[in-house]
Amino acid sequence: MRTQVGIIGAGPAGLLLSHLLAQHGISSIILESRSREEIESTIRAGVLEQGTVDLLTQTGLAERLLREGHVHHGIELRFGNQGHRIDLSGLTDGKAITVYAQHEVIKDLVKARLDAGGQILFDATDVRLDGLESTAPTVHFRQGTKFQSIACDFVAGCDGFHGISRPSIPAALKTEYERKYEFGWFGILVEAPPSSKELIYASHERGFALVSTRSDTVQRLYFQCDPKDAVANWPDERIWEELDLRLASDDGWRVKQGRIFQKGIIAMRSFVVEPLQYGRLFLAGDAAHIVPPTGAKGLNLAVADVKVLAQALDRHYSAGHNEALERYSETVLRRIWRSEHFSWWMTSMLHRFPDGDPIQRRFQLAELRNVTTSHAAATMLAENYVGLPMV
Ligand code: APR
Ligand code: PHB
Repeated sequence: MRTQVGIIGAGPAGLLLSHLLAQHGISSIILESRSREEIESTIRAGVLEQGTVDLLTQTGLAERLLREGHVHHGIELRFGNQGHRIDLSGLTDGKAITVYAQHEVIKDLVKARLDAGGQILFDATDVRLDGLESTAPTVHFRQGTKFQSIACDFVAGCDGFHGISRPSIPAALKTEYERKYEFGWFGILVEAPPSSKELIYASHERGFALVSTRSDTVQRLYFQCDPKDAVANWPDERIWEELDLRLASDDGWRVKQGRIFQKGIIAMRSFVVEPLQYGRLFLAGDAAHIVPPTGAKGLNLAVADVKVLAQALDRHYSAGHNEALERYSETVLRRIWRSEHFSWWMTSMLHRFPDGDPIQRRFQLAELRNVTTSHAAATMLAENYVGLPMV
């Protein structure tokens, strides 16, 4: 087979890149190791920045998102049994976030690609990259018992943290920056009405908790836990007891309970690889960087990467200019490190550090009071949370 861009991975990065390239008349083939059903049912986060919604709208992918997504103009920071609203829209000239689950974005992207005649090869395994240093790389893979190859001009590594693309860059030619957190998130999906109009980020002596949503009948909640803990240790009543304690508020607010139909533990890390290019291989999304979920940046960073990559590939094919491709890595790393810092800062301010000495908690409370009383500090949080302008 032959295509201009071979894309490894049908996550938000790979699917959106293929869509944006098609809009520039550039061909691509996506190789995905899992099935369509699997990728469309993987539970992940669900907060879209203003810039992400704008790009999906501009490129004709937002019809369902705009109809079913929930636009939020603020968030609440809760500590000391008190809620403090951060007026996101008021502090950012009207920008907002949209709560719309990642697997719904995936469904919309897959449908758009296939409706447009795009090629997504599901259940493609043993993917191997060849000739990345040449101008004609090849992607080898197996589907069922058949081994096949795709000749292409470029390879986009959009295969997530555990993919094969990043490891294809020789160790001597890359630097990996990592911080693992000694806590994780216990996430639940609940059949219940919303407990609040906006997301609540709670910082409590017992640990962090987050009230999010999926729809008028399904809610998403998280609380800080030991990443080595087991879901089986958390029967429903213990979960509700812990959430009530951490979300306690002087105004008697209580989280709305319901049938918990999904439970899972998420490990947390900050990770970045530099550079994001090796010959004709370009990394995007989780293949190159991971953020802890506290800043809701994962999906949005993947979108920002592929927006830049699609523009750079268009410059190559439409004008024969390679400077944007050569600067791809440094261009996206500026936003990546901004989002990495913001996600680490939110995580540090809101979580209880197991070995944290008492002064750590006092520092956190001082930071929280500053962010909820200083206009400048609240603006910094709001600007980063709704998303900095995309390149
Ligand atoms: N060959 C083919 N496909 C692969 C391989 C491989 N060797 N390894 C992984 N994949 C596929 C995965 O099955 C997955 O569907 O690549 C896709 C990568 O998708 P994501 O992990 O979602 O990564 P990305 O598209 O960069 O999106 C980042 O996803 O994990 C969330 O929080 C993260 O929101 C962020 C977003
Ligand atoms: C979610 O809705 O899943 C969610 C919301 C906010 C976050 C992380 C996850 O910071």
